[in-house]
Amino acid sequence: MSQDNQKPVRVGLLGIGTVGGGTFTVLKRNQEEIRRRAGRGISIDMVADLNVDRAKELVGDAAEVVSDARQVIANPNIDVVVELIGGYGIAKTLVLEAIAAGKHVVTANKALLAVHGTEIFAAAREKGVMVAFEAAVAGGIPIIKSLREGLTANQIQWVAGIINGTTNFILSEMRDKGLDFDVVLKEAQRLGYAEADPTFDIEGVDAAHKATLLSAIAYGIPVQFDKAYVEGITKLSAVDIKYAEQLGYRIKLLGIARRQEVNGKVLGIELRTHPTLVPQRRLIANVEGAMNAVMVQGDAVGTTMYYGKGAGSEPTASAVVADLVDIARLTDAPAASYVPPLAFQHDSMSTLPILPIEEVVTSFYVRLRVADQTGVLAKITGILAEQGISIDAVIQREADEVSGEGGNQTDLILLTHDTKEGSMNKAIAAMQALPTVLAPIVRLRKEELA
Ligand code: NDP
Ligand code: HSE
Repeated sequence: MSQDNQKPVRVGLLGIGTVGGGTFTVLKRNQEEIRRRAGRGISIDMVADLNVDRAKELVGDAAEVVSDARQVIANPNIDVVVELIGGYGIAKTLVLEAIAAGKHVVTANKALLAVHGTEIFAAAREKGVMVAFEAAVAGGIPIIKSLREGLTANQIQWVAGIINGTTNFILSEMRDKGLDFDVVLKEAQRLGYAEADPTFDIEGVDAAHKATLLSAIAYGIPVQFDKAYVEGITKLSAVDIKYAEQLGYRIKLLGIARRQEVNGKVLGIELRTHPTLVPQRRLIANVEGAMNAVMVQGDAVGTTMYYGKGAGSEPTASAVVADLVDIARLTDAPAASYVPPLAFQHDSMSTLPILPIEEVVTSFYVRLRVADQTGVLAKITGILAEQGISIDAVIQREADEVSGEGGNQTDLILLTHDTKEGSMNKAIAAMQALPTVLAPIVRLRKEELA
């Protein structure tokens, strides 16, 4: 039976910047369509933003605009608080206060949930309210709903995604247009993709926040950002991007969550974010610009992929509004009928550990700048063999191609088969100590994603 005759859901918006502005615009433009889907109207009645004048200009008379977010939370007529301020500071306080006041919460704040999710979800459960966060991972792509509901029949083997638009934009523009890192980063900021602190993007922290949320939903483990391995793109050099291309790979910043299983025994969960070589023939290797894509492999469904805009005003607003519609449909339902925020019932969470990076199993690209002498390769392959690391391919770049001087150096590029990161660390330390290895060794992880 339609609930169309019910009163609208009353929303208070905290922060009307890039995503908040998009949310207001999308809800206004599509209000009739959204009402027909939700079974009731969704109305933004109050907006809080530090910049009241700018907010008023956008909102007009449609909603009351205040500078103090607590006024929104204190308003008994507000059913849902949408937090679009960002960060772990005031946003955390406001979200917890909104929950304590009995409001449902929608947020796009992956940083907040990856770090403080356990506390926030527990507070919401106790109060019988929903915390919805579709926009927190991969912007407009409904990956949380897909993983939490659409793939609920599956054991998830791995999730791997390009889940930071800013870094994908930087990598694509640098490769295609030869632009400098700093120039492209500024453009990403201008387009509203980058975080308030863009080091979160370029150092991999933002992608790791999102990977943390995906790992929790895929495996029913608590959010544990503190155990995630994080490596960004700032140390990536143009020469490795070029060599990777020549070898048939593209380098992407991937957030990965993988169940590590040996002889039928699950040892734990790998949770890592790092630049990764991906075969050029994979669809995900061809995801360019600020676009995001997430691959999920489930035991029943096989490999699936979700693609779309991972950042920006209206794409992210699309996910925020979808959460509002879900809440509008459920506000009068008993709390037991809510979909659990992390997909699994809270009393059925897994205790599987997040594995330390030394335990992660993957293949590697290793580049060594070496003296162009006989016997160097034999020493290197010997060290790898000692660690039980098997080599898939070895490529040598001519000395003059490297130094431009017809000099006495050469680049050796090794591709390995799967091995433990700990073994690779030992091999790299031993190789680095060789007098014929002339520069810091570069090591990048490689995933076939098959
Ligand atoms: P913006 O900086 O564009 O917007 C944040 C807004 O909140 C600003 O208008 C800011 O005002 C306001 N604000 C700051 N502090 C307060 C406060 N105490 N009370 C009320 N308003 C406040 O950020 P975004 O819209 O880009 O991001 C919002 C959230 O969405 C973040 O968690 C972000 O990580 C997430 N997100 C962003 C995406 C994107 O593409 N931009 C995509 C997916 C998620 P002022 O400007 O005056 O400081
Ligand atoms: N800064 C983020 C990105 C915004 O570039 O992907 C979307 O979460």
